[in-house]
Parts: sequence; C-alpha cells; structure tokens
Amino acid sequence: MFRTSVFIFVVSAASILFSCCVASAVPPKNIDTPTQDDEETQRAMSGYRLLVDTPFLKSDFNQEVFDDLWKVWPAKLSEIARSATPAVRRRMAFQRYGLTARPDNPDKPLQYVVDAAGNWTMNCFACHGGKVYGKPFPGAPNNRFALQTLTEEVRQTKLQNGIPLARMDLGSLVIPLGTTNGTTNAVVFGMGLMHLRDKDLNVLVSPPKRFVHHDMDAPAWWSFYKRPSLYIDGFAQKGHRGLMQFLMIPENDRQFFLEHEEEFQDVYSYISSLRAPAYNGEIDEPLAARGQLLFESKCSQCHGTYESPSVYPNIRIDLNDIGTDPVRLNALEVEGRVKYSQSWFAHAGEDMEQETVVDPKGYVAPPLDGIWASAPYLHNGSIPTLWHLLNPDSRPKVWRPVSERFDEKLVGISIEEVSEVPASESDVVIRRSYFDTRKFGKSNKGHDYPAELSDSERKAVLEYLKTL
Ligand code: HEC
Ligand code: HEC
Repeated sequence: MFRTSVFIFVVSAASILFSCCVASAVPPKNIDTPTQDDEETQRAMSGYRLLVDTPFLKSDFNQEVFDDLWKVWPAKLSEIARSATPAVRRRMAFQRYGLTARPDNPDKPLQYVVDAAGNWTMNCFACHGGKVYGKPFPGAPNNRFALQTLTEEVRQTKLQNGIPLARMDLGSLVIPLGTTNGTTNAVVFGMGLMHLRDKDLNVLVSPPKRFVHHDMDAPAWWSFYKRPSLYIDGFAQKGHRGLMQFLMIPENDRQFFLEHEEEFQDVYSYISSLRAPAYNGEIDEPLAARGQLLFESKCSQCHGTYESPSVYPNIRIDLNDIGTDPVRLNALEVEGRVKYSQSWFAHAGEDMEQETVVDPKGYVAPPLDGIWASAPYLHNGSIPTLWHLLNPDSRPKVWRPVSERFDEKLVGISIEEVSEVPASESDVVIRRSYFDTRKFGKSNKGHDYPAELSDSERKAVLEYLKTL
C-alpha cells in the first residue's frame, strides 16, 4: 500500500499516458432551460450528444476486453460471474467500476463512448455523470467511479489476452489515478498535459516535471451556469475553450483544437443548461423556513441566496480562514496558472483575454444548488453527509459507503465508520472504498462556520439545505 505522503509524478511518462476524458443522440432527460431560446436548446442537446457519442480521445479498450474483465476479479466474485448470464456479468462490472447506463440509451454506458466497432473511450461523464436516487443523472458527480481499479484490471486482462497496452494502461503504472473510489487525480492529469504544450497548444518536448498527486471530488455541473470562474480556487474564467483541456493527448495537435472548438461551444451550452434535481423526500416546511433565516444570516455572505432572483457572490476565502485541506491549492503552482493565462484556453477569441487569477490563496465558496445530491462534501470529498459537514466535531475519520441507499436522515451517503482500513481486505475495489481522512490531501478539517450553531439550529439549516 502507499505509505508515502506525497505522490510524485514525472511527466515524461505522462506523454505515454492519458486517455482521460471525453466524448456524442437523444435529448438528455434533465435539461431544464426555461429561459433559453430554441437555438440554445438545440446547442445544448448537440453538446450532450457530442459527449456521449464522439470519441475525442484514443480508445481505452474494446468490448472483448470489457467482457473478459470478470476473469481477473477476486476468486469469489469471479466464480459468481462465471456461472452468470452475460447480462448479469455486465451489471456486476458496472457495479464494480461505478458505471451506469445512459439514461437515453440503456444499452450503452454513460461514462464511455462505445463506437460501432465496440471500442470504449472515456468521456467527461466518467467523473461528471453519477446517480441521483439510484438513477443515472448526467451532470451529477460520479461518486463511485473506480478508475484505478478499472485501469489495472483492463491492463491485466489485455496481458492475459495478448492485446497491446494503450496509453492509460502504461501511464497508470507511473501516475496514481485515484486512491479512493469516486475521487481522482484529475487536476494533475490536466497539469501534466499542459506541461507538454506551448501556449498555442503545439506539442513540446519538455523536461520532466514533478507534480503533487492528490485526489479530488468532481463538482456537480448543475451550478456551472452560476459560476463566473471555475474550479475550487476559481482561478480560471469560464469559457468553452477551457472545457477542452483534457483533450491534450499528443495525438490531438493544435489543429484538432481549432477544428473541434465549435463543438465545445455546444458542450458549453449543454453544461450551462443543467439545473439541480429537486429533493423528493419529506421536508418539514416550518423547520426549513427557520433554517433559511439562519442560513441567510450565517452562510449567505459566502454561498449566496436561492430565492429568485438568486444571488451568487463568488467569494474566495483565504486558506487560513477556511482551513480545509491545503494540498489542492498548493499543488497548482503560480507558474502553471500563468502558463494557462497565456494559453489558447484563456483567450475566448483571438483578441479576447480572459481573467486568470494566478495566485488565488484560497478556495471559492461554491453555489449550493442540489447540494443534498452531491455527496461527499468539500473539494476532496472527505465528508460523507451534510450532517457531518454541519457537525465538525463528529466527522468520521475513516469511513466507507455501505450501500447506494441515500441517507435521508444525515443527508448524504450511507456509511460505516471504522477505526482502520482492514489490512486483511484483499479486494482492491473494497479497500479503495474506504476514505481515510488521515492520508495526504484527504483532511476533513476546516469550514468550522457551522460550529457556532446550536444543535437545533443545525437541524433547521440541514432541512433548508434539502430545498436548494
Ligand atoms: C477523471 C475525472 C474527470 C474527468 C474525466 C473530467 N473531469 Fe471535469 N473535473 C474533475 C474534477 C476533479 C474537477 C474539480 C477540479 C478543481 O476544482 O480543481 C473538475 C472540474 C470541472 C469543471 C469546473 C466545475 C466548477 O464548478 O468549478 C468543469 C466545467 C469540468 N470539470 C468540465 C469537464 C469536461 C467538459 C470534461 C470532459 C472534456 C471533464 N470535466 C472531464 C474531474 C474530471
Ligand atoms: C466565510 C465563507 C463561508 C461561510 C460563512 C460558510 N461557508 Fe460553506 N464553504 C465555504 C468555502 C470556501 C467552501 C469550499 C471549501 C472546500 O471545499 O475546501 C465551502 C463549502 C461548503 C459546503 C460543501 C460544498 C461542496 O460542494 O462540497 C457546504 C455544504 C457548505 N459550505 C455549507 C455552508 C453552510 C450551511 C454555512 C453556514 C452555516 C456555510 N457553508 C458557511 C465558505 C463559507
């Protein structure tokens, strides 16, 4: 097991790496675009189709490899799979790796583009397409994605079947992809790729560079429309070009970006069109009303208000004040942000420079729309429920999801708390389901603002948060 506290990744190895993301024909189910005109709606629908149907990267593996994955599973599971029907085996594989069916086409996965020849290519929904109430929901964070385990088992299956390894299979030997299910080293993927380009996106031969690996919880896409700048430190102004960062594999040259730019204007429209799902359970209205008053006096200065017209202040809080895990902020160096600011991504048109904050010094308070549906909480995904977020002293040190059932009482993931990750657990996917907040980059500390609330006030605020 990893005992080091800092994972370092050497980027020359990164050039043999990533097939990270992306992706293209049916309208997405959760589009809610009341104020948009028809053209915007068409663009949004096109953006969704592009993501689920177009492989913008090299393929990760083919159908044959996917269908054989069960052969490398731990013995017990593999035995069950052996005697199961292909359909049941496929469900088991989806379960194991945190994949779901596409809401508009249940024969296909949401998280991968599968072309007519059976080639699977990861898309943005791998991290940005999860479940709400047990149903696939494009734009919800995928808090079950097991990228590390999937990649390792694909590699093992390819070796057994005599199939050549692809970029991701090799790159993952040097770069951790994600040490806890549902979180990924995605920010470092982006930094590594950027290191291998000049500002106009020509591929460079760059000296190796060390990066600080850390796992992040993907944010929900349904708040995108409110945010003027992106990412937890809000360093990058929003724009369609910025959405293409993950496509910088060496095969995609500058020309590729110019040719596909317009498609990403559609992807931008799609992401902007998303809205949070509504809470379906019971809400104690008088309690929630009391919670709203408390929220507006204690939380709104940072998180905004939610009655129409809603206000989102987009406030960045100094790291010393917020006190949450510092690793993400420091891992992205000023030099890297400066490079981004000068790059093609930060220029919306040839002459339009976007604003980049090169030294942000803290984290931006995110909009809390649909917050009940986007557990776990904080940027590193260290807190499993809203109740735990509101009760800083009771946050679990080591926890894991025990079922996919939504915990209505604590509002979030149904978990068990343990004192240690069981050393005897041999199934990696189970071992990686434990979130150990004592590990590097995984602290659940900070954001102590709710500590000044009384127990009954916390209950009221929790009730109000369900209504957002
Ligand atoms: C491997 C997982 C992964 C994949 C694949 C992925 N993302 Fe992300 N995405 C993340 C993580 C993690 C963050 C948070 C980064 C941060 O705040 O520093 C993020 C942040 C974002 C944000 C900013 C949201 C906000 O509110 O700040 C956008 C927009 C986004 N991703 C779009 C995309 C698009 C478009 C694709 C496909 C081209 C994609 N992502 C693929 C993991 C992923
Ligand atoms: C001084 C500004 C500030 C105040 C006051 C504040 N927050 Fe936050 N909040 C933040 C910041 C910044 C983050 C992001 C921290 C991180 O992820 O590291 C955050 C994160 C959160 C999150 C997790 C969001 C997610 O997507 O994981 C929730 C929920 C939340 N706050 C609720 C509240 C509530 C409820 C209150 C009032 C009791 C409150 N906050 C008060 C700044 C604030």
